[in-house]
Amino acid sequence: MTMVIRGDVVFTQKPGCFTALEDGCVVVGDDGRVMEVTRSLPDLTLHGPSVLDTGIETPAAPHSEPSPHWKPEPHVVDRRGCLVIPSFVDLHVHAAQYPMSGLGLDAELLQWLRNTTFPTESRFADPEVAETWYRRFVRRMWRVGTLRFSAFATLHEDSTLMLMRLCQEAGLRPVIGKVNMDRNSPEDLSEGTSDSLDATRRIIKMSRIETPDVGYVVTPRFVPATTTRLMEGLGEIVREFGLPVQSHLDENRSEVDWVHRLHPDIPTYAEVYDRFGLMPEGRTIMAHCIWLTDSERELLRGRRVWAAHCPQSNLNLTSGLIPVRRDLDAGLGVCIASDVAAGHDPSMPRQIVAAIETSKAKTFEAGHEKDRPLTLSEAFYMATKRPGEFFGAIGRGRVGSFEPGYDFDALVIREEGDNPLDLSPEGRLARFIYDGDDRDILERWVAGRRVSEPFAR
Ligand code: GUN
Ligand code: FE
Repeated sequence: MTMVIRGDVVFTQKPGCFTALEDGCVVVGDDGRVMEVTRSLPDLTLHGPSVLDTGIETPAAPHSEPSPHWKPEPHVVDRRGCLVIPSFVDLHVHAAQYPMSGLGLDAELLQWLRNTTFPTESRFADPEVAETWYRRFVRRMWRVGTLRFSAFATLHEDSTLMLMRLCQEAGLRPVIGKVNMDRNSPEDLSEGTSDSLDATRRIIKMSRIETPDVGYVVTPRFVPATTTRLMEGLGEIVREFGLPVQSHLDENRSEVDWVHRLHPDIPTYAEVYDRFGLMPEGRTIMAHCIWLTDSERELLRGRRVWAAHCPQSNLNLTSGLIPVRRDLDAGLGVCIASDVAAGHDPSMPRQIVAAIETSKAKTFEAGHEKDRPLTLSEAFYMATKRPGEFFGAIGRGRVGSFEPGYDFDALVIREEGDNPLDLSPEGRLARFIYDGDDRDILERWVAGRRVSEPFAR
């Protein structure tokens, strides 16, 4: 049955402005996809059964004699007074780093990896640790309204599959990858090259059977942690299975220098991935991309890479301030991501604000005074529609907007009582982004279905 969600609908079709309908309707088909967004008809709620704020459905009045012209009445979800917005999409998050959010952040990247990250990830060899913390992670993503994401697990095969199963059970639809790392890693977090490739193939095959809504993304950790043999093997897997790739690129200056020392014959960091088939066109996510050269920028644009800008992480690890306006002007697909746990907060509204603040801070740097900072609608677009296009590109449903054909992935945000200002829907969205939190999210919808809190105790 067609469903109609009625409320104050706000989304971004393009970066420069919001599309907002005060008392509007999103019409959703049986397949969970948006059919259209319209202004409300005043008597719409009279046409069918409604779902009250309690979430309890009131039954439909029986139709005694359906005429031959009878069409099923739409099922109306009446959320008048609430905002209805696309749910968030985070294209760069480390699920196994959730227990260390906020820890070790006095260090820069390479020291932080050694001292805080690797010891944490090695704990995920223990299935009990993995189960407890992956459940907490999935629940937190649900809470903050990030219902699709691209996550790194760890190198451990069983716990990676466990994370995929938990997401499937929870009704979330991310892509997830086992981390591949076979050099420059501590002993308890290192694997043989063939073992790494074999385990990756096994997870791909198992997940195709067991977790149809949770996809696999090939996940070399970063160039310093992957031998050329491993990168070659992963490139073959990418080609053979037609899979997407996620990794890190140009995050920290010592890291970039290290990559040059490891691959003196390859001119740039980005070309190392490309050389080994790890930048498949239209299905690659590269996190950070702070220190790109012009030729790397050109390569990423040509490969239609999603450049995951992680502003909170970049400040925490003193990695640098991305020249976001220049990258956007150069035609890069820049989106906003959390990079938990180098970013300490999984909430995408917090990341949106950090991205705007960072872009403003960048204008204090010599040579960047004229860079126009990000606007709120641009940053919202970069946390919804642009990263959502990644899921469309890999055949997992277009998300992040309410245009026709998009999966209805949405959040219902509660009304803020007694605000003395006569706020527009966009104004209320701004208040939620800057000063709201997960307690303001009343409902989460994925592909037209309401998803309840997973693993609630
Ligand atoms: N580079 C390689 N591994 C990591 C990681 O876990 N986090 C971040 N931020 N950068 C990395
Ligand atoms: Fe990262």
